[in-house]
Amino acid sequence: MEKEVVWVNGKLLSRGEASVSVFDHGFLYGDGVFEGIKIADKRLLLFEEHLDRLYHSLKVFGIKEPMPRQDFRQVVLDACKASQIVNGYVRPVVSRGPGDLGVNPNKCKEPTVVVIISRIQLYPKEFYERGLDVVVAKTRKTPKECMDGSAKICNYANNTFAIMEANKAGAQESIMLLSDGRVSEASADNIFIVRNGEVWTPTLSTNCLPGITRAAVLRIAKEIGITALEKDFGVKELTGADEVFLTGTGAGIVPVATIGGKKVGNGARQVTNKLMETYFARVPQMSTPYE
Ligand SMILES: Cc1ncc(COP(=O)(O)O)c(C=O)c1O
Repeated sequence: MEKEVVWVNGKLLSRGEASVSVFDHGFLYGDGVFEGIKIADKRLLLFEEHLDRLYHSLKVFGIKEPMPRQDFRQVVLDACKASQIVNGYVRPVVSRGPGDLGVNPNKCKEPTVVVIISRIQLYPKEFYERGLDVVVAKTRKTPKECMDGSAKICNYANNTFAIMEANKAGAQESIMLLSDGRVSEASADNIFIVRNGEVWTPTLSTNCLPGITRAAVLRIAKEIGITALEKDFGVKELTGADEVFLTGTGAGIVPVATIGGKKVGNGARQVTNKLMETYFARVPQMSTPYE
């Protein structure tokens, strides 16, 4: 039988039992890193890539590795096996650990490790057909000088402000720009545009997350003969694009129907549909069975 499980510092618990200290700097200051891994048909999608990024994030933020990467890998596999969840989501979180009330992390001796195995809340099927409504957020993306976006840190305040703007407008997602006007990413997804048959996604210099789905889409596009470039662009190119789509572990590839209430292109979505078809068909071969 499928059940949600939470691994906390070596113990496999239920949702109700799982807890961490209120003095944990992950709770007090968002001082931690995390991942989101999709379980598709009892397989972990792009599992090694997510583990690599988790360990990269730990390094960027100077959080002590709680265990060797291979042991972490086994913890995730064992927790998935205990859950027997067929289609769901793994959320590993490593925080700086419990310390005192000061911001200084020097009192945080041991990182806290949590691995949640749960069900996923995907966009409903209709959004893959109809497309999402998005807005361009007024909230700007945190620049690299303030926070290294190559790491997936637990502090999502910036993204939360952006998605609240979307909620207010009755949209589902928000596109974030850098202060110089370049498009960076959505609040929880990477962004791609299609112009004259070419696919563009912002470069990592925009401080967007190096999305694992983004990388897979760039790879797949090249393999099936679509020109796919990492190339920066502004709002003009975004709103004037023939097609726009978002990518992320949870969403996969999801088309954008409107930006700020204006329809994207003529709604034909030839390139997006081709990429969606190929990407979703390849999910099994990009995944690792958990048992
Ligand atoms: C801010 C942000 N950008 C992009 C993504 C997509 O990244 P990935 O494809 O690795 O899930 C995510 C998803 O977690 C995200 O939170």
